[in-house]
Amino acid sequence: MISRGFADQVRDQADIVRIISDYVTLRKRGTNYLALCPFHREKTPSFAVHPTKQIFKCFGCGIGGDVFKFVMEMEGCSWPEAVKTVAERCGIPVPRDAFASTPEIEAQARWRERLLQIYRLAGEFFQACLASERGQAARQYLADRGIRPDLVRRLHLGYAPASWDALTAHLLGRHIRRDEIERSGLVVLREDASGYYDRFRHRLMFPIFDSQGRIVGFGGRALGDEQPKYLNSPDTAIYSKGRQLYGLYQARDGIRRQGFAILVEGYFDYALPFQEGVENVVASLGTALTDDQVRLLGRYTRRVVINYDADPAGRAAMQRNIERLLAGGLDVAVLVLPEGEDPDSFVRRYGVEAYVRLAHSARGYLDFLLDQALAGKDIRSPAARTKALREILPTLTHIPDKVERAASLDHLAERLHLDGRVVREEFRRQSSSESRSPEGGSEMTVTPPGEDMTAAERRLLEILLNCPELCPVVLAEMEPEDQEGLPTAKIFDELRRAGDAPIPYLEWRDRLGENEFLLDLIERALLSDPSASSESLLDEARACVRALRRRRLQRQLDSLQWEIERAKQHGDDVDELLRRKAALARSLMNISPGLSATHRQTQ
Ligand code: UTP
Ligand code: MN
Repeated sequence: MISRGFADQVRDQADIVRIISDYVTLRKRGTNYLALCPFHREKTPSFAVHPTKQIFKCFGCGIGGDVFKFVMEMEGCSWPEAVKTVAERCGIPVPRDAFASTPEIEAQARWRERLLQIYRLAGEFFQACLASERGQAARQYLADRGIRPDLVRRLHLGYAPASWDALTAHLLGRHIRRDEIERSGLVVLREDASGYYDRFRHRLMFPIFDSQGRIVGFGGRALGDEQPKYLNSPDTAIYSKGRQLYGLYQARDGIRRQGFAILVEGYFDYALPFQEGVENVVASLGTALTDDQVRLLGRYTRRVVINYDADPAGRAAMQRNIERLLAGGLDVAVLVLPEGEDPDSFVRRYGVEAYVRLAHSARGYLDFLLDQALAGKDIRSPAARTKALREILPTLTHIPDKVERAASLDHLAERLHLDGRVVREEFRRQSSSESRSPEGGSEMTVTPPGEDMTAAERRLLEILLNCPELCPVVLAEMEPEDQEGLPTAKIFDELRRAGDAPIPYLEWRDRLGENEFLLDLIERALLSDPSASSESLLDEARACVRALRRRRLQRQLDSLQWEIERAKQHGDDVDELLRRKAALARSLMNISPGLSATHRQTQ
């Protein structure tokens, strides 16, 4: 809801290189800056930033855009938040009217700010209580569970005292109004509606942080056998259960460093490994992952090791989680602990080294599923193997990548000693009976237009986008027919319209709409360095135009030939067709002598 004008001003004044180098180490290479991509795992840098065009692009995973896009992806925040963040980092004051919005939206935003303040105050209160005399029992509880004071500080753990109104009183003392406390989710309405009482009483408090490190909710652990064992914050304007992952804020650097995340279920399953130096762990705080959580995690890594309790209850959730993660394009492995252990108890009993060893030797999800399906069965029995196959195949329909899916099917066939063709056939049968859904099911039906791109088209775009002064000359030589049917035709149209004026990246976004494929091309072209004198670039661009024309003529010639064959079969007159063919062949020869010799013979 931020005004475009203000965003443009911030973008103009911000230095994308400086902002990005707050997150990654950039090295200058030619006009660009290069780095290891923070959005996927790689060993050689393919992440480029252009200082004057003010865009970034990863040639590996394809992510790209302007400074706001970068901050959004990195911080996991919305566009207006990214604009604000960048403005603040550049010392640009954010004017009140920068947010073009309605009174309701403003009220919402003010309420969110207020809630953040309330939760921050509550978090500080709980922390102070834990440190105070009344926190004695909670401190003892932590000590009994092997949690040390340094972790208490890092996770901002606290204690909600055994009182009906201690938090309320504290907040009132900090000038939070009673009605605001009542709406905050931190208090509960009495059954007779005569008033409110504190939701969290006599509990160990785990604050839940958003991706910017602000407290948005709490989980409270009972110190004894009180029910429920864990009490959680309700959803509010700042918190939604299915959108957060516990501990991600503290673990994100660790996840990037390690190149993978360990996904656990509970608060203590997070806390113990984290305390002992496993800093790439996050907790889902429940059983089933949502797509939002998968997307959130996917911003930091593409590899996930799931480490849930492998009890019967967790098993179904596990299968679903594997599917959600696969559907999000993530690599999934499964860490199985000995019966009866969870990450918390395992680390305490066997030590963190043993845990890290297990994490690094986690099995691919497919082997895990196979072990599950075959447990207690005789692998030599064909019936058992077929049953296992039928159980596992549906999971594989969630893999979006064709090549990976094929590899998984091969692996499955091998492990079950089944013929690869049989497995693939069964897979097709299952997925086609599932894919009657409106979304068209699992089989990719759209071929990416990239497959149709020629090197000439790509190179021509690189040159024209970087040297707009060449556009009028080069495009004058390109006939409309040459670009007809090309996936990039729209780009050439825009270039023609712009004359020799450069089109800034953002304008491309407007002109091309939400066409991700074309935008990807533009980003790649803008960040390439055509590097040569413009004299030879002009020659090269012309050669590309000729290559495109050759390709077009060749195609026309091919289809004409086909028409001729058909006419001959029907005994029709082919004179006119032959004349056209000769004309085409001549044009083709004029661009590239020698090519049409074979055609002359086939006449
Ligand atoms: P578990 O029942 O496996 O407990 O719940 P745990 O994590 O091992 O807890 P400890 O070790 O006894 O303290 C796993 C997670 O499910 C959520 C919590 O996030 C918990 O960490 N949960 C569980 C609740 O939200 N409420 C509950 O009553 C129980
Ligand atoms: Mn536990």
